[in-house]
Amino acid sequence: MKLDVVFTPAGLTSVDIQGRTVFVIDILRATTVMCAALAHGAKALIPVASTEEALRLAQTIDSDDILLAGEKNCLRIPGFQLGNSPLEMRESTVRNKTLIVTTTNGTKALLACQGAAAVFPVAASNLSLAAERVREAIDRDDEVLIVCAGRSGAFALDDAYCAGRLIVAALDSRKPHRSLNDAGLATLDLVRRYGDRWERPLSRSRGGRELIKVGLRDDVLDASRLDAYPVLPHFQERRVTLTPVPV
Ligand code: MLT
Repeated sequence: MKLDVVFTPAGLTSVDIQGRTVFVIDILRATTVMCAALAHGAKALIPVASTEEALRLAQTIDSDDILLAGEKNCLRIPGFQLGNSPLEMRESTVRNKTLIVTTTNGTKALLACQGAAAVFPVAASNLSLAAERVREAIDRDDEVLIVCAGRSGAFALDDAYCAGRLIVAALDSRKPHRSLNDAGLATLDLVRRYGDRWERPLSRSRGGRELIKVGLRDDVLDASRLDAYPVLPHFQERRVTLTPVPV
């Protein structure tokens, strides 16, 4: 089995991605937001790389069902209907809507993984479902890659801890160290250090501290809730939608 973790998508090439089953983590907050929006009935999210691209795309789609969402420096982008908070993804707001989303790291991490065999956004909110999917992929002998969005091309404690929790939940009693790369092994050390207290590494991370500083502590707490939005988003053909349930 092959199970690798990268702490940032910077430097990933199409060769690293091709044919692999990829799990992308930006727990604060992009992948948490995707889970919250889909759990509350959003039709799809379209991740894009910039505010300009979001505005351009919105103009080409003639529909009332589009909402612009995202953040810059943690805050809502002027003119956008939604920020990047899971708490804003209320059913009354997002049901049957398609959200065009741009964020600093999370949406870019997803876009960097285009071309993989399958791409699943992961957070604490959907950890158990995502772990099942990792396990299935390993049982099929798929090559699995966990991509942490990180912060500005560097390591982020919050994403790395979430990666460790995903590995532990997926592998249970199997011996993960036999197949993990060094980044993967380091995530297991974070799990040993923080145990199951999600809010510790999240609120201590640089991203968490910045969110708290701008008054978004509740977002950090929401992102720390295990299996709060139990859906498995799937990124394919530029859209994030719910994974179809096999019949
Ligand atoms: C990101 O993409 O870097 C995050 O979603 C940032 C945030 O939520 O403020």
